[in-house]
Amino acid sequence: MRRRWLAAVAITMAGLLGVTACGGGNTPAGQATDGATKAASSDVEVFSWWTGPGEADGLAAMRKIFETQNPNLKFLDAAVAGGSGDKAKALLQTKLQGGEPPDSFQGHAGAELQGYIKAGQLEDLTSLYDELKLKDVFPAQLVEQISVDGKIYSVPVNIHRSNVLWFNPAVLKEAGVAGAPKTIEEFIAALGKVKAKGKIPLSIGSEWTVTHLLENVMLGSLGTDGYNALFKPGANWAAPEVTKALESFKTIMSFAGDPQDDWQPAAKQVADGQAAFNIMGDWAYGYFHNPPDGGLGKTSKTDFDWAPAPGTEGTYLWLSDSFTLPKGAKNREGALAWLKVAASKEGQDAFNPKKGSIPARKDADAALYTDYLGDALKDWSGNKLAGSVQHGVAVSQPWLTAINEQVGLYLGKQDVAALQKGLADAATANAQ
Ligand code: GAL
Repeated sequence: MRRRWLAAVAITMAGLLGVTACGGGNTPAGQATDGATKAASSDVEVFSWWTGPGEADGLAAMRKIFETQNPNLKFLDAAVAGGSGDKAKALLQTKLQGGEPPDSFQGHAGAELQGYIKAGQLEDLTSLYDELKLKDVFPAQLVEQISVDGKIYSVPVNIHRSNVLWFNPAVLKEAGVAGAPKTIEEFIAALGKVKAKGKIPLSIGSEWTVTHLLENVMLGSLGTDGYNALFKPGANWAAPEVTKALESFKTIMSFAGDPQDDWQPAAKQVADGQAAFNIMGDWAYGYFHNPPDGGLGKTSKTDFDWAPAPGTEGTYLWLSDSFTLPKGAKNREGALAWLKVAASKEGQDAFNPKKGSIPARKDADAALYTDYLGDALKDWSGNKLAGSVQHGVAVSQPWLTAINEQVGLYLGKQDVAALQKGLADAATANAQ
């Protein structure tokens, strides 16, 4: 197990070095930092970007448990729409810098969370870990991703997988594509066949979904070691292998349909049989599968099917959503009550089957994770690991912003050489 995490840990280790742990209270739950009883309202403001179909279902399930266990507290859903937090994270920065943090916010384990820690924005949660014996239930290597100098700064609720190829079996059949393509070359051939039939070969959403696609094509083309090496200091982004990966990205993008507003409408094109393929994280499973009040209520293997993104079988391109306690939270006790639910087996087993993710806890009820989620649990325990770029594991937020800018420029000019140079410059400026 330890070996599996090493690559991902190495990616963020540089971010850990030289970072002084920030103060922050170790005050037990129920006690305000200044020792006084807080007269604040009972509102507990929880910030995420889980507003849309599929996304909101998991949060609602965990909220229900929170409300039952804490009748005196009021859950205030401060979610800001926009998949991958593309809008939420910018607003969060404004709130944090303005000294108006929410009581708890969602941050990705890995380099993204290290940024908040480094900026001194989070409280140390080690005492909560001790109180609830959480070190025994979370994988040690995941805890490393959310720690600095042995202090732990967030509560991971799940493990998501970025590298999933979602496809419509009937559209593939109609195009004469025998099954999910296993390599980038097979993928390009399959896209061509679908195009010849007049269907959308590959659906895409807003700009961040293109970066999501890019990380998948890079992993599929470079392999796990080559991909992971890119995020270490001194990595060679100018290498011919990277050029080859970006050329493949260009070819694949040439089969993309019209960009949809976000990931949900792009995924829906597959479920509705308008498009053959979509490369998206496994939150799409919650959306496809959940009943129509939140999801699409589709039937797996018939309306939609899945496989590892081409060229990535045997690797889990991972990310983890985690909740924090920002310094200066108005309702610190309420936030701790929320974190306890997020950390609990009950909370995780309510949240994850709806969210399309597997639990971060090792002792969750495996019987609840069936269908796609059964495959995910199995792969998680045996696959190699690579950290997601778009979802905060491999690169810091400033680095991701620089990558997204390059992807945005690429969409205008479609210039692979310029994209490669831009990505190389972004790495030089941001790798630590
Ligand atoms: C990711 C997040 C997932 C999911 C996805 C789409 O960044 O970790 O939980 O919400 O964005 O919005």
